[in-house]
Amino acid sequence: MALPKSVEIVEVGPRDGLQNEPQSPAAAVKVTLIERLAEAGCRVIEAGAFVSPKWVPQMADTAEVLAALHRKAGVRYPVLVPNLEGLERARAAGVEEVSVFGAASETFTQRNINCSIAESLERFAPVCEAALAAGLRVRGYVSCVLGCPYEGAVPVARVAEVAAALRAMGCAEISLGDTIGVGTPLKARAMLAAVAEAVPLDRLAVHFHDTYGQALANILACLEFGVATVDTAVAGLGGCPYAKGASGNVATEDVVYMLNGLGIESGIDLDRLAAAGAYICAELGRPPASKVALALAGRAA
Ligand code: HMG
Ligand code: MG
Repeated sequence: MALPKSVEIVEVGPRDGLQNEPQSPAAAVKVTLIERLAEAGCRVIEAGAFVSPKWVPQMADTAEVLAALHRKAGVRYPVLVPNLEGLERARAAGVEEVSVFGAASETFTQRNINCSIAESLERFAPVCEAALAAGLRVRGYVSCVLGCPYEGAVPVARVAEVAAALRAMGCAEISLGDTIGVGTPLKARAMLAAVAEAVPLDRLAVHFHDTYGQALANILACLEFGVATVDTAVAGLGGCPYAKGASGNVATEDVVYMLNGLGIESGIDLDRLAAAGAYICAELGRPPASKVALALAGRAA
């Protein structure tokens, strides 16, 4: 076991989580959530998405959120951009990091961003080029790395191919998304190992949805392989509007608790994190999907 000494948590709750809420909270609530996450020690917080408001209305207020946000020094606030129009909007909002998002499944790509995989890569190339020329950091996502809601099994070679293409465009980091949370530990690790043949491991992140309750086990398997960047969402918020039945991302509270137990540093204060989760759950009117958050709340009561 070669566990990393520290792990960078990429908190995606304000984007991946809230993009899937039928009743999107007000921009001011999103701002408070993001600020509380930063206060809890989150150093990377995905703050929103400059996507078509017709496709994902929940993210239509991202510019408003960023304008109101007090950005904390040392904290990064990336946003999703699907095309040049998104990049323009992100730059106008003073963003320093953007993410393009592709997938290893043709059907998912079509449903999510209305084009083929090849067309998506053609579309991302000028986005990456322009973002890099403007001095922005670019992250790339690959969805459906362990299965697709429409096509089922996805070949790992296809995942590696898309990841390598994004890396070649200058993405500093590639996040491997188990969009529908179907992966299990050995499959997750084998997928990671295959991608690591094409993209250096220190450029890879893992992004697990917890639909089948496997996310923590999958993360541990990937940490043992040496990955040190993990995407999570406070309170286990989320899902994906183009992956029916996908539940939220693995809860940040659960991952931080596990990292603490493993002696791996994340820089995040668990109690303050859970308080941020309790805040957004109260706004959404439902309990957190995090066992750790529920346990901490029970202990406090
Ligand atoms: P399209 O309809 O093919 O695009 O959508 P278009 O270029 O023909 O534009 C149609 C309209 O959208 C036009 O407006 C454009 O101006 C507008 P109209 O002339 O009709 O009034 N438009 C935009 N508006 C604002 N910002 C933009 C933008 N682009 C076009 N950037 C498009 C193609 C990619 C735009 C659309 O499919 C889209 O926005 N998709 C986003 C879907 C999305 O956000 N999905 C969730 C994120 S991915 C995810 O959750 C997975 C992840 O978490 C990893 C994992 O779990 O696996 C990352
Ligand atoms: Mg996701």
